[in-house]
This record gives sequence, structure tokens and C-alpha cells, in this order.
Amino acid sequence: MSDKVPVITVDGPGGAGKGTLSQMLATDLGFHYLDSGALYRLLALAAKRHKVSLDNVEGLTVLAGHMDITFEMDPEGGRPTVVLESEDVSSLVRSEEIGKDASIVAAIPEVRQALLQRQQAFAQAPGLVADGRDMGTVVFANAEVKIFLTASPGERAKRRHKQLIGKEENDSLAALANKVRQRDERDERRLVSPLRSADDALTLDSTELSISEVFAQARTLIRDKLSL
Ligand code: DC
Repeated sequence: MSDKVPVITVDGPGGAGKGTLSQMLATDLGFHYLDSGALYRLLALAAKRHKVSLDNVEGLTVLAGHMDITFEMDPEGGRPTVVLESEDVSSLVRSEEIGKDASIVAAIPEVRQALLQRQQAFAQAPGLVADGRDMGTVVFANAEVKIFLTASPGERAKRRHKQLIGKEENDSLAALANKVRQRDERDERRLVSPLRSADDALTLDSTELSISEVFAQARTLIRDKLSL
């Protein structure tokens, strides 16, 4: 292992279990955690609040560079609290509508550039687990350990459906599956930093695996690569 901060990247489509896996790994290793999707979600919410339309590239880029956001880590290893301009918006940013808007702003190259350094600043000792779409390909292209976590579209829609139950989002499973597919397509087809596996990533398909089985495989890879 080199003396630079070790980084573990977990990329993949929505609903594959990246967030859960990344939080478990960060807690187990005592590493920091970056939920990069939350940054795009926060930008989408900030744009809504400041009445910046989703096709206003300049307005979105300024907002991306300056929005007042904080992530408060949960010592128990749960999802971090996400704060926008002093307000806890953790629940608000997780809605499917904000997810869709996040995917739209994420396709703008200037926005991605404006968020690049903010993401890279998370790489602090003793180490970082970063989850998203382009962690291993762009943001932390030199990461020591790269995982691409996927699952079948049907299984991912089911998991998203479960997550959204009780959140006043009453999409049927079929409607949600459709939205998941549209978001995948947008994330995969955009010209800049599209969702794809890094060449040196280990692909894990979680369709038939429990989260503890996924964790065990990821943990073995980290032990092999980082001796941790
Ligand atoms: O992981 P998520 O569902 O919270 O991400 C929301 C959207 O943000 C996703 O549809 C695409 C975008 N995103 C991205 O383009 N790059 C990342 N590294 C993370 C998320």
C-alpha cells in the first residue's frame, strides 16, 4: 500500500445496494464515506428552491460550486444526514423525483466539473469509501480498490420500491421499474462520465446475493489489495 490515502470506489446503477455496501465498508474500516449521488440530488433540490431551471447551465454550475451543504456522519454507520443551508433534507433528497432531476443535472459537463474538487476533498486519512457512477472511472481513477455493483433491473426496482414505501411515494412496482430504466439509460448514455465499470473494477452482481454475502466478497478484495 502506498502512503497516499487509500480510496475504495463503489459504482453501479441505482438500487444495486451501493449505499448500503459502502456504509458497511466505511464503518468496518473506520474510513470516511462519500455518497456522491447525494451531491447531485442536493444540487437538484437547491436548484428547485432557488428557482434555477434544469436547463440553465450557468446558474446550475454556480450553484454546484457554491451551495451550502454538509454531510453529518452517523457513528452507528447509517446513512449520513444531509444538510442544505442549515436544513436537514435527508429525506427530501431521497425522493424519486429529485433522483430524476439529479440525473438530468448530472449530464451537464460544467456541473460535473464544478463538483469534481468537492468530491475529491473527501479523500482524507485514514481512507475513503466513495459511491456513485464515475468514482472509479473519473473522480478517483487511481483508487486502489474498485467495485462495480450491479443487479438485474427487476431486482433493483423491487429494492427501490421497498425503500420508498411509507414515504408518500405511491408508484406501483411497474411504474417504478419504468423510472429506474429511464434513469439508467440517461446515466449510461450521457456523453460525460457515463455510468460504466472501470476496466480494473471487480464486478459484483447482487441479484441473488444477500447484503452480507456482497459485503464478504468486497471485504475479501480489500484484504487482498490493501492488506486491511
Ligand atoms: O446514486 P443516486 O441515485 O443517489 O444518484 C442520483 C443521480 O445522480 C443518478 O441518477 C446519476 C447522478 N450521479 C452521477 O451522475 N454521478 C455520480 N457519481 C453519482 C450520481
